[in-house]
Amino acid sequence: MKIAVIGTGYVGLVTGVALSEIGNRVTCIDVDPSKVEKLSNGIPTIYEPGLEELIRKNLESGNLSFTAKHQEGLSDAEVVYIAVGTPQRPDGAANLDYVEQAARDIAANITRNVIVVIKSTVPVGTNFHIKDLINKNTKNGIQIKIASNPEFLREGSAVKDTFHGDRIVIGTEDEQTADILAELNQPFGAPIVTTDISSAEMIKYSSNAFLATKISFINEIANLCEAMGANVEEVAKGMGLDHRIGPDFLKAGIGYGGSCFPKDTNALVQLAGNANHDFNLLKSVIEVNNHQQVLLLNKIESRFGSIQGKRVAVLGLAFKPNTDDLRESPAFVMIPKLCAMGADVIAYDPIAVSNAKRQLGTDIDYTEDLHEALNNADFAIIITDWPSVKNADLAIFNTLMKEPVVFDGRNCYALDKVKQATLEYYSIGRPDQA
Ligand code: UGA
Repeated sequence: MKIAVIGTGYVGLVTGVALSEIGNRVTCIDVDPSKVEKLSNGIPTIYEPGLEELIRKNLESGNLSFTAKHQEGLSDAEVVYIAVGTPQRPDGAANLDYVEQAARDIAANITRNVIVVIKSTVPVGTNFHIKDLINKNTKNGIQIKIASNPEFLREGSAVKDTFHGDRIVIGTEDEQTADILAELNQPFGAPIVTTDISSAEMIKYSSNAFLATKISFINEIANLCEAMGANVEEVAKGMGLDHRIGPDFLKAGIGYGGSCFPKDTNALVQLAGNANHDFNLLKSVIEVNNHQQVLLLNKIESRFGSIQGKRVAVLGLAFKPNTDDLRESPAFVMIPKLCAMGADVIAYDPIAVSNAKRQLGTDIDYTEDLHEALNNADFAIIITDWPSVKNADLAIFNTLMKEPVVFDGRNCYALDKVKQATLEYYSIGRPDQA
C-alpha cells in the first residue's frame, strides 16, 4: 500500500520504517528539514538498536522516503498515520496542537478517500474530533475513515517490539476499515484485536497506567522490605511465578521515567477528572513514583550528613538503558538536588552525554568513560542500569574511588558479589551492605 506517516519521532519513525520493511511504499513526513535530510541519508535521528540497518535497507529498495513537504507524502497516500507528539500541558492534560495541525495538513493535501490512523497517544474522544476536523476541511467532498491504532513499543527495544509484539489493537467505526488495517498489519505476526475507537484509545492509557501501577506497587513493597528486613527481589520472584501476577515490571528501583508513563498517567487522571471520576489509585501511583525518585537522597544524607564539596559519580543519565532519551529521567530530579546540596557532580552515560549537556548545562562534569567517572569519587549513585555498569568488575569501585560507597537505584549487583568486593552498598528494598 502507499502510506504516509506524519511525524518522525520515536513512534512515527519506527512505524514508518517497519511498514516499509513489510513491503509497503512509505513516505515519512516531518516539518523539521534537518531531520528529513539526516534520515534521507540513512542517519537515524534517535538511538534505537537495529533501526539504522532497516532505514538504509528500505531507502535503498525505494520502499522508504522522507520529506518535509506534506503534499509530496499525502497526495497519493491510501493510508495516513498520525504519529506526532502529545506532550503534557501544565495541568497534566495531553496537548493536541500537533495532532490537530497534522489533521489540517491532511485535509489540505489528500486527493482521495484515505484511512487516517492515529498512532499518537490521545485522550478518549480525540479520534472522532480529528475525523470531524479533517472532513470539515477537505476539498472536493473527500471524506476520510478514522482508526485508532495505539503503539505499545518500548524505547530501546522498539524494533524488536514492533516485529514481536504481544498484540496489535485496531479501533474503527466500520468493518471494512478494520479488515484493511488488519490485512496491512498481518505480516507483523501479532494477534490483532479489532474493537471500537473509544475502547482502543482506552486500551492504550489503561495498559500504561497498569504497568506504572505494577512498578509503584513493587517500589512500595521494596520500601516495606527495607523496614522489615526482607529482600524485594526474592519477594518479586515469589510473586511473579503466579501467572495471574506475572514476573514482568516487578523490578523495584528509582521509579519510572520516560516520555510515556509519567505523561500518560497524568493524562488519565485528568481525563477521569473531566468525567467526574476521582482516580485515586492512579494518583497514588504517581505520588509513590515522585517519592521514589528522591528516596536515595535520604540514604545519602543519613550516611554522610553534609555532602558539601564531595565528588559524586552519577552513573547513567538516560531514563533506561539502550536509549539516549532523557525525558523524565530520575537523573534530572537527582542531579539538581545534589548540586543544591553542594556536591561536585560528574555524570557518566555511554550515549546520552551530548543530549544532557544541552538540557542540564555545563555546571557539572560529564564523561562517557565509567572509570573516569569513578576516579577519586567520594560516592557513586547508579541511576541507569546500563550493561557497562551492570557488568562492570566490582573491583573498580575499590581501586578508583576514594571510598567504595555505592547507592544503587537499579539493584544492579547480587548482594553476595557486593560482599565479596567489600563495597559499602545501599540498594532498593534489599538489606544494606554497610
Ligand atoms: C512504555 C511501555 O512499556 C510501552 O509499552 C509503551 O508503548 C510506551 O511506554 C509508550 O507509551 O510509548 P517505555 O517508556 O519506552 O515504554 O519504557 P519501559 O521499558 O516501559 O520503562 C519505563 C520506565 O519504567 C523506565 O524508567 C524503567 O526503568 C521503569 N521500570 C520498568 C521499572 O522501574 N521497573 C520495571 O520493572 C520496569
